[in-house]
Amino acid sequence: MRIKKAILTGGGRATRLYPITTTINKHLLPLANKPMIFHAIEKAVEAGVEEIFINTNPGDTSLPDYIGDGGHWGIKIRFYEQTGGPQGIAHVVNEAKKFIGHDPFMFYLSDNILFGDIKGMFKEFEIGQYDCMLALSEVPDPQRFGVPVFNEKKELIDVIEKPVNPANSFAVTGIYLYAGDVFFDAFKNIEKSARGEYEISSIHSYLLKHGRKVGYKEITGWWKDTGKVEDLLTANNLLLDKMDAEHFVNQSMTELGAVISGKVNIGIGSHVGKNVKVIGPVLVGENCILENCQIGPYVTIGQGTEVHNSSLEDTIILDNAYIDCDIFIHDSLIGKGVNLRKKKNGEKAGHRIVVGDKTIIEM
Ligand code: G1P
Repeated sequence: MRIKKAILTGGGRATRLYPITTTINKHLLPLANKPMIFHAIEKAVEAGVEEIFINTNPGDTSLPDYIGDGGHWGIKIRFYEQTGGPQGIAHVVNEAKKFIGHDPFMFYLSDNILFGDIKGMFKEFEIGQYDCMLALSEVPDPQRFGVPVFNEKKELIDVIEKPVNPANSFAVTGIYLYAGDVFFDAFKNIEKSARGEYEISSIHSYLLKHGRKVGYKEITGWWKDTGKVEDLLTANNLLLDKMDAEHFVNQSMTELGAVISGKVNIGIGSHVGKNVKVIGPVLVGENCILENCQIGPYVTIGQGTEVHNSSLEDTIILDNAYIDCDIFIHDSLIGKGVNLRKKKNGEKAGHRIVVGDKTIIEM
C-alpha cells in the first residue's frame, strides 16, 4: 500500500544549542536559509506524502505559526502535543495513533538531513510488502545510534540502541517506514529503557523477534545533527554545495563596483553597496543591507540583517541582526536581532557585552 502519511518530530529542548534554542525551536533554525524541518517536509512531499503530523512541545505555537496547514506544499499538516512530556521517540509515534488509523506511514526525525531522495525506499517497501523498513547509513561513530545486527545472509536480525561495542559501522537513520498496525502493536509490548525512554530501536527489535518482515535500505548523503554549532555549520555548507545553480539569483539593488562571484542568492529589497565582495556559495535574505564588507564563502544571512565593515565566512546569521565592526567572523552562529557594533566616538573604551547563558565569544 502506498504511504501517504508521515509523522515528523518537532519537540525536544535542544539544550546543547543554548542560548539560541531558548528563543527558537531547534527545528526552525535555518539551514540554507530554510527552517530545518522544511527540509524534512520537502523530502516527505517528494516521496508522495499527503498528510503530515508534527509533535510539538506543550504550549509551543512557533511550529504551527511558521509551518501553517501545509497548503504551501499542497498537503495537509496537523500538530499534536506529546502528553506527559518527552518519553522517547517511540512514544511520539504512538501519540499519533489517532491520526494514522490502520494506514502505512513514515516516521522522520526532523533533525536528520538527507541529500538524496527516499522515493526508492518507498517503492521497495511497497513492492516487497514489508511490515517495516529502516534506512541505514555507514557512520564513523555507530555507538551514538541504533545499530543493526545482521546474520550471515545479510538479513536484519536485531537493532541495538547505542551499543558500547557496535557489531558493524551502520547506523539506523531517523527515517522509518511502517505498514498498518505493526508499530502500535509493538509499542504495547515494549518497556522504557534505562534512560527512561520508549526507544524506537526496541520497536524494531520486537518486530524482528516476532517474525515481522523488516527490511532495510542503505542510503547515502545523510547527515545527523549532534546538537553542536559546528554540526549545523557543516550541514549548512553541505546544503549550499548541493543547491542547483537555478536557486541563486541576485534580486538586490547592487551598486556598481560590488563584486559578486560564485553561487550567490540575494533577496528582494536588499541593498549591496559598492565596496562589497560576495563569494559564493552565499544566501542573503530579503531586505538586508551589505556595506563595505566581504561575505562568503559559505555564509547564509536571514531577512532584515545589516552587515557593515566586517568579513564573514562559514557563518549562519538569523533575521534582523546588525553587524558593524572591523572584525573577521568565521564558523559562527549569530541569532535573531543580535547587535554587534563598533563603539561610537566618545563612548567609554573597552567592550560591553550582553549575552545569554553558554554564549561563546572568542576575542
Ligand atoms: C535516535 C534513535 C537512534 C537513531 C537516531 C538517528 O537517536 O534513538 O536509534 O539512530 O535517532 O537520528 P537520538 O538522536 O535520539 O539519540
